[in-house]
Amino acid sequence: MRVLQVSAELFPLLKTGGLADIAGALPLALMAAGQDVRVLLPGFPAIAAGVRDAVAVKEFAAPWGEPARLRLGRIVTPGARDIPAYVIDAPALYDRPGNPYEDLARKPYGDNHRRFALLGWAAAQIAQGLDSDWQPDIVHAHDWHAALAPAYLAFAPPGGRPRVGSVFTVHNLAYQGLFAPRHFPELGLPPAAFGVDGLEYYGQVSFMKGGLCFADRITTVSPTYAREIQTPEQGCGLDGLLRSRSHVLKGILNAVDDQVWNPATDALIPYRYDLRRLGGKAQCKAALQEELGLAPQADAPLFVVVSRLTEQKGLHLVLGGLDALLAQGGQLALLGSGDAPLETAFRQRAAAAPESVSVTLGYSEDLAHRLFGAGDVTLVPSLFEPCGLTQMYGLKYGSLPLVHRVGGLADTVVDATLEDMASGEATGFAFDDFDPAGYARALRRAFALYRRPADWRAVRANAMRRPADWGTAAARYLDVYAEALA
Ligand code: ADP
Ligand code: GLC
Repeated sequence: MRVLQVSAELFPLLKTGGLADIAGALPLALMAAGQDVRVLLPGFPAIAAGVRDAVAVKEFAAPWGEPARLRLGRIVTPGARDIPAYVIDAPALYDRPGNPYEDLARKPYGDNHRRFALLGWAAAQIAQGLDSDWQPDIVHAHDWHAALAPAYLAFAPPGGRPRVGSVFTVHNLAYQGLFAPRHFPELGLPPAAFGVDGLEYYGQVSFMKGGLCFADRITTVSPTYAREIQTPEQGCGLDGLLRSRSHVLKGILNAVDDQVWNPATDALIPYRYDLRRLGGKAQCKAALQEELGLAPQADAPLFVVVSRLTEQKGLHLVLGGLDALLAQGGQLALLGSGDAPLETAFRQRAAAAPESVSVTLGYSEDLAHRLFGAGDVTLVPSLFEPCGLTQMYGLKYGSLPLVHRVGGLADTVVDATLEDMASGEATGFAFDDFDPAGYARALRRAFALYRRPADWRAVRANAMRRPADWGTAAARYLDVYAEALA
């Protein structure tokens, strides 16, 4: 099957969150399953610079007339095959400092509707033969940035070509791509597309709805989140639409790219380890304590956080519970960036207790690996979490996840109750009540288990053994592609 994956970010070229990890790993998994996969990305500076040997394919015009160029090159990935990659060359739209979505002052760019409409538009053009050498059977669009691709395909003029199926994956329903209605005419869609059964969302233009209404199949990144987004509590105003399309909606759990995240082979951690040779993990912890200026205590449980600092991630619980964590003898090492008040609060806590609390504000792929390698517990107390990857990295690196039991966190972490420890299923700590008391109890459970080394080792072994391979996820996506084509 020929599959075009469409996303705004892709690891290792450009990453602001988990979307990039998935956009980088899924093509490789599909290629390993024998499929003919290409990706389509906007020509942001990091992408334009990272795609090798790019050659011009074709000039084309955006719906509002602006010229753009499609280029084709390849992405070199750690330890795996090259991914063929189309890049949209439109410097006036993409060649800007800042992250892909916001300027340096963290304000969304005023022309984001054009910048991301062009991504979906280019995908639909490729499906309609823009590259005479290659046309996809399936266009697979990720998140609101690519969500107009299914809409453009649904309204494309019939061209005597084989039908192209569309799949839309929701990585986070909370980010919808909403724009003022005056921008709708620029998008090149017929007026009929701007209705309740289309892009219209309380008078605004919703890119997310373009994907949800017009894709042949919808997926999201965990089975629990697929159910949650059909409820008013977690549906972000779209639960009714999602319920009406539940027959084409499926949750497919993300997996972990073993070439990037594997403590036995990871070149970014100072000592490598696996289940049979766990000495390296203790050495990683000692090295990190020294690096971060934490007290060199092997027996102080080390809690790690690697996260965007936003309301979604529930980190006010970590702040509120920090005194209890320290009073029980723990240490905290956090790596994150995001909302200024959270950054300030964590920075102050580190300044007040530098031997037990380390806070690194910013983005560092390398330090993230060292934290999972060193950690005893990975904290992910998110308010909601479509899938979550850091708890899965925590599992694989034996840094037991402590999570709020929602979304993908509920699907990947089994609480260390006596019965689940007895059956060998326990892999971490999970709490139901999203409040300080619920979090504090889970924290006490982690400390209690830590004081029973044999039990701790058993749970850690369960965690490190938990399968998270992309082969299974890729097979599920292939089923969905077949359904989209049928
Ligand atoms: P989300 O996509 O909602 O941010 P995920 O858990 O799915 O959450 O993915 C987050 C990804 O981003 C993980 O790969 C994590 O390691 C990485 N990450 C988050 N914050 C940072 C940071 N400050 N530095 C390095 N990596 C980070
Ligand atoms: C989103 C979600 C996160 C998920 C990631 C990759 O960023 O917030 O839960 O793991 O996408 O699918």
